[in-house]
Amino acid sequence: MAEPIGTNLPPLKIGRHVARLPIIQGGMGIKVSGARLAGAVAREGAVGVIAAVALGLSSPYYKKKSDYFNANKLALADEIAMARQTAPDGIIGVNCMVAITDHEAMVRTAAENGADLIISGAGLPLNLPVYTRDHPDCALLPIVSSEKAARLICRRWEHTHGRLPDALVVEDPNTAGGHLGVRRQELGNPDYDLERVVPEIVAYLAEEGFDIPVLSAGGIWDRSDIDHQFALGARGVQMATRFICTHECDADDAFKAQYLKRKPSDVVIVDSPAGLPGRAVSSAFVERLHGHGKVEMQCFANCLRKCICRDEKETFCIAHALNQAQHGNVQDGLFFTGTNLYRSEQIVSVHEILTELCAPRG
Ligand SMILES: Cc1cc2nc3c(=O)[nH]c(=O)nc-3n(C[C@H](O)[C@H](O)[C@H](O)COP(=O)(O)O)c2cc1C
Repeated sequence: MAEPIGTNLPPLKIGRHVARLPIIQGGMGIKVSGARLAGAVAREGAVGVIAAVALGLSSPYYKKKSDYFNANKLALADEIAMARQTAPDGIIGVNCMVAITDHEAMVRTAAENGADLIISGAGLPLNLPVYTRDHPDCALLPIVSSEKAARLICRRWEHTHGRLPDALVVEDPNTAGGHLGVRRQELGNPDYDLERVVPEIVAYLAEEGFDIPVLSAGGIWDRSDIDHQFALGARGVQMATRFICTHECDADDAFKAQYLKRKPSDVVIVDSPAGLPGRAVSSAFVERLHGHGKVEMQCFANCLRKCICRDEKETFCIAHALNQAQHGNVQDGLFFTGTNLYRSEQIVSVHEILTELCAPRG
């Protein structure tokens, strides 16, 4: 392996783990971030994250609909083991959204298979500590978009579980990719900007005397963005869109090609069947969806706890659309992205990105 990446950024302590580089690669569902990407990031000294949702679909364990939940568990165990092989001493996390039907099973599987940390948003992860009780080394990181949510989780966890989160990921719905933690009509509201929310949460935690690192997510691309978040009080950042156009990203090359040389106006909002807005690349699929053309609506996986497609026969099947994208189907795929889409110019390596982001600066 190449020389370790030098940096003058401070290390990031999360629970019992210390990342030499204070960067978390954000989880990207339906195997956009699997073992290959997460392992490569962790090997460099940052935190690699495998997204748990629908991981089984591209595994040998999935042969028919009824295999879905079992295949997800088996595939997650395999992906953690593979990432660990790439980065034996690295920090490997798993992203388990609250909104998925098998949230509890995937959190338990992650902890049982040695995940160093679990990141959980798209809902309030109020029971995370119950599912990981037997794994005290597994750090827990809820994702929030407001001080109110941070306060609620800290209070509830302290009262109900006698513990606090090991870090809080603060995600800005106005810039982040994938499912966004606010209602569609709230998008664009500056109250959710990291500028505002990060200092508010840092102040709240200080007031309570809680030593919990705050990690900023959404719209972070280069070193000046990282330095800015540190100045706001963050102790690390979570970045996803930047890691899509890498050799190591687990999705098909045709998936990655959708993110190259795009314009800011190529980013659109779709109403996900989860009842949340999602940020995505404009595509043939989105055009059909918004033009009331034909999109796949047959629920095959029962992947979401609450699903407008399954329950009200509206919108589209998100597992199908995201899985098609991951396999490079440009016609039928839904490609999630953050607002930084337009900044990807070529496919590079994880090592190149992290070297550029972390190189010592005066
Ligand atoms: C393709 C894609 C898939 C994503 N999937 C998930 C997911 O499964 N779970 C989750 O909590 N967040 C998901 N996200 C959000 C990211 O983890 C991250 O927090 C966010 O995109 C950060 O903003 P950035 O992309 O501007 O760096 C996804 C984002 C993208 C772009």
